[in-house]
Amino acid sequence: MDNQPQKLTTASGRPYAENENSQSAGARGPLLLQDYILHEKMAHFNRERIPERVVHAKGSGAYGTFTVTNDITQYTRARLFNQVGKETRVFMRFSTVGGEKGSADTERDPRGFAVKFYTEEGNWDLVGNNTPVFFVKDPKKFGDFIHTQKRDPYTNLKSPTMMWDYWSLNPESLHQVLILMSDRGTPVGYRFMNGYGSHTFSLINAKGERFWVKFHFKSMQGIRNFSGPEADAMKARDLDFAQRDLLEAIDNGHYPKWALKVQIMPEADAKTYKWNPFDLTKVWPHKDYPLIDVGVLELNQNPDNYFAEVEQSAFAPAHVVDGIGYSPDKMLQGRLLSYPDAHRYRLGGNYEQIPVNRCPYAVHNYQRDGQMRVDGNGGRTPNYFPNSFDTIVADASYKEPAQTLDSLVADWYDRNAPGDNDHYTQPGILFREVMTPEQQMATVQNIVTAMRGISGPKKEQIVFRQLCHFFRADMSLGMAIARGLNVNVDQFMPTAQSAHA
Ligand code: NDP
Ligand code: HEM
Repeated sequence: MDNQPQKLTTASGRPYAENENSQSAGARGPLLLQDYILHEKMAHFNRERIPERVVHAKGSGAYGTFTVTNDITQYTRARLFNQVGKETRVFMRFSTVGGEKGSADTERDPRGFAVKFYTEEGNWDLVGNNTPVFFVKDPKKFGDFIHTQKRDPYTNLKSPTMMWDYWSLNPESLHQVLILMSDRGTPVGYRFMNGYGSHTFSLINAKGERFWVKFHFKSMQGIRNFSGPEADAMKARDLDFAQRDLLEAIDNGHYPKWALKVQIMPEADAKTYKWNPFDLTKVWPHKDYPLIDVGVLELNQNPDNYFAEVEQSAFAPAHVVDGIGYSPDKMLQGRLLSYPDAHRYRLGGNYEQIPVNRCPYAVHNYQRDGQMRVDGNGGRTPNYFPNSFDTIVADASYKEPAQTLDSLVADWYDRNAPGDNDHYTQPGILFREVMTPEQQMATVQNIVTAMRGISGPKKEQIVFRQLCHFFRADMSLGMAIARGLNVNVDQFMPTAQSAHA
């Protein structure tokens, strides 16, 4: 910034003569209608808020670089992966899910982990969470589920009764609930947690072969979580703990890094694999599909302006690039539609022209006009296709290989297909085989604390229904929670008759 004085002006450039005293009829008189500067200041202020995101409203963002460290060109022709050492600029936004824009960063909640890769063939958005699974596996359930995480319509309070009522009636949520209730539900800011693309996507290589893929970002800072009481204490001390932590780390040159890894499933395996690979409530065990290194993502630049860059950032799972495609995951299919729709509502139809969202490489199409079109609108170039004037063409080499949707495909989606309604095996493995005894104890304690919040006439019904799910995942998990809640466990013990059923 140079030290030359600069004139204060209206938005249309007229210099101000005075900025703090409104024009009045005499020193003590009423104000004059002609004080346009007063009107402009007040009117613009009144329009400063845009709708907050309906979910993931509280968040933090930063720019960085993704660098390829391992060759995966046998699986994908995506240009950003075409050379070891290749760098791609990224913008990332982390978030909590259920709270409002001013809510606490240390709430027990999944954390959003959204990455925008500005690749030379378009922006690729990987809009994931810090967990590999989700609460529901059909997009029709999303709005109902989210309502239970927001405020009760009557009390305007968060309601553990609504949450556990819903979870207990939707046992497919159990895997995600168990992760949420472990100390991974309260990470120490955003730097010490993993990120997951969560859905199954596809990779397409230069030969036109398709592979199913899951993306994992492993924190290179290690995993650090708050205990339940520590997270509560931080809420009282610093609502914005995660924002402050990320901002200060980057300002001080402690650039956080994540190792990007993939699990790859050959296309044909999907038909025979023991789990439905497109079910968002299940993981692919690492021993079946091991992690393969891809590269390193580093965040190294704070945005200059929170509203312009973080609040106006817009991510969409539909934004993929050549070499990366969708999958039949029903949740992903639902999200393809929902996000651009949300952005058009929140930011307007031209949201992709906002600098943080704009593709930094050439964009050619015939979209024109609309509110806040500020990029020249294509100037004199034709606004229709085909035309005799420009040289814009669709390039068939970007086609994806055809996908066979035969009767077998329908069978995978059969709600009663073996394994699809098994909501218990993977959570049981997580509790028994992955968690240490200390982590098990913390998880039980967090669940007991959360379930103690259930109240009202349906309390017993909700508690019992949810306990049954915990028992089905793991007997000792169910027992520990039941004891913590002072529930008589005898009713959950198999009787001689049911044990032989
Ligand atoms: P592995 O032992 O190979 O992997 C276990 C995974 O669990 C690691 O990625 C670990 O992450 C992660 N983890 C550890 N504690 C927790 C926790 N409290 N909440 C969530 N994740 C945790 O086992 P499998 O691949 O056979 O999977 C076993 C279970 O582990 C699954 O049922 C699932 O619940 C969980 N899991 C599996 C993942 C997968 O993609 N296979 C991914 C994440 C969890 P880290 O290495 O960072 O400590
Ligand atoms: C944000 C819908 C599932 C991760 C949002 C937003 C909507 C939405 C409308 C707000 C977008 C905006 O205004 O900018 C849905 C629907 C889902 C779904 C309909 C299921 C059908 C998921 C899942 C994940 C996820 C499974 C993670 C695996 C995120 C993230 C954000 C977000 C990270 C915030 C992005 C940002 O930082 O701007 N979601 N969501 N969502 N969602 Fe989802």
